[in-house]
Amino acid sequence: MKITVTGSLGNISKPLAKQLIRAGHQLTIISSNAEKAAAIEAIGATAAIGVVTDVEFLTRAFTGADVVYTMVPPYFGANNFREYVRSIGKNYAEAIEKASVPRVVNLSSIGAHLDAGTGPIAGMHDVELELNKLSNVAIKHLRAPFFYVNFEGNIDMIRNMGILGSNYPATARLVMVHPEDIAAVAAEEIQQEFTGKSIRYLVSDDRTMGPIATVLGTAIGKPELPWVEFTDEQALNGMLQNGLPPEMARNFVEMGTAIRSGLLWGDYDQNKPKVPGIIKLEAFAQEFADRFKLV
Ligand SMILES: NC(=O)c1ccc[n+]([C@@H]2O[C@H](COP(=O)([O-])OP(=O)(O)OC[C@H]3O[C@@H](n4cnc5c(N)ncnc54)[C@H](OP(=O)(O)O)[C@@H]3O)[C@@H](O)[C@H]2O)c1
Repeated sequence: MKITVTGSLGNISKPLAKQLIRAGHQLTIISSNAEKAAAIEAIGATAAIGVVTDVEFLTRAFTGADVVYTMVPPYFGANNFREYVRSIGKNYAEAIEKASVPRVVNLSSIGAHLDAGTGPIAGMHDVELELNKLSNVAIKHLRAPFFYVNFEGNIDMIRNMGILGSNYPATARLVMVHPEDIAAVAAEEIQQEFTGKSIRYLVSDDRTMGPIATVLGTAIGKPELPWVEFTDEQALNGMLQNGLPPEMARNFVEMGTAIRSGLLWGDYDQNKPKVPGIIKLEAFAQEFADRFKLV
């Protein structure tokens, strides 16, 4: 099959592309950076260099594809993050229609069933709606939970403060996934026929924050690493001090409130995947420890 993959050689797109190329498919990978073309070609794909804000470019990159994998690249400089995410979903929808793409596998998020109260995830709700407007296009939304790799953003906090923390307590639950487990499910969906519009939830592990801190801490030789609950205000100020733009900091604080209340997991709990991903937190913790040594 001819497949166009967005997301360059990112967390999910790289293992996804490698798997699809191994299976004999013809891949085009979208990157915004011309310097990535050589690395994309080195894994056996064609590079399409351009940006997801350019519908004409997307249309060209999607033309002739049997399946497109869509994801919205993170852009923390957006003045209105939700509007940014929605606008990329709208661009994808327009390009998919113009290029007559029959099937789409879209990376969405746990919590995307909710219209508000979820911070950065609300835009994913909008993307699903934009794509679902397309008639005669089969669409599978993969609702992924919290990526393990997000914890790599906490390495400075561990080093400088000796803690892990956010605006939810040690007893708060976190549903998590490894990018390789997402890539495996995306590859499966891309390679099998499906019709209509549907949702598939993903998971690798489902734990609470205190034990998560212990597992990550143990892997880096700090088994006593505590999980510390911040107030919303402390979390906001901490993110601002670390240079996160206010719009994003506010979004992440709101997402934290949805983790604290459990709001985020509601629809997932009603529709849990029958087969979970294989990479559990302890396995990721070894990757985390390798990363910790480098940063
Ligand atoms: N983090 C989570 O917990 C979580 C949970 C659920 C869903 N998600 C979704 O997952 C997404 C991230 O997926 P990921 O981790 O696989 O992505 P990623 O590793 O962040 O990779 C995205 C790649 O997209 C490319 N890119 C950036 N801006 C672009 C632009 N304007 N036009 C074209 N390409 C551009 C970049 O590569 P180049 O430099 O080569 O262009 C970048 O490396 C999030 O944005 C969110 O929608 C995340």
